[in-house]
Amino acid sequence: MKIFIDSANIKEIREAESMGLLDGVTTNPSLIAKEGKPFGEVIREICSVVKGDISAEVIATDFEGIVKEGRELAKIDDKIVVKVPLIREGLKAVRVFSSEGIKTNVTLCFSPNQALLAAKAGAYIISPFVGRLDDISYEGMELIGQILTIYRNYGFETQVLVASVRHPMHVVQAALMGAHIATIPFNVITQLLKHPLTDIGLERFLADWKKVPGQTL
Ligand code: E4P
Repeated sequence: MKIFIDSANIKEIREAESMGLLDGVTTNPSLIAKEGKPFGEVIREICSVVKGDISAEVIATDFEGIVKEGRELAKIDDKIVVKVPLIREGLKAVRVFSSEGIKTNVTLCFSPNQALLAAKAGAYIISPFVGRLDDISYEGMELIGQILTIYRNYGFETQVLVASVRHPMHVVQAALMGAHIATIPFNVITQLLKHPLTDIGLERFLADWKKVPGQTL
């Protein structure tokens, strides 16, 4: 499973990158707004740090606007994946982008039928939001299973990206189900590596090391 960071913060992105785990980045307008810098500046900086796919979202909601913005975003760097909302005009634009070789991440997906339509339109990535479904008492991870089954049934190549990840169990479930990608906020990435037995074990090894004569190699 590929691991993306769900962040527009360059410090977090650099830290995750230096841990050797980063396959890509997802951003959205809310994450960009937190940085207090122009959109283009943030995206270019991320492109300079990360090798994999970098999702940058369009703001337009009409077909012509989405196509125009998407083409501009795609010109910034080969790594750019144009993030398009799962609306009628968005799917029309995804069809055009797909014919032009521009990669898309269809976002704000909350149902298996929406995911089916996005794949038909030629989406490179589909982003079902599991945490936001959990928030309204729907089992978000169930949607991931449904989409994976539908895509496997018909051989769609669209990658399933588990979005709106809130805790480590979302990541475990995504990997067990065989999701292609999980995009994870930085705080959850740090939670993934923690285990109390690791900390206790290391403390004990270091204490015992003090008993070794000379304490050198
Ligand atoms: C995905 O690409 C979205 O940016 C993100 O996962 C949304 O997560 P949230 O529901 O925590 O805002």
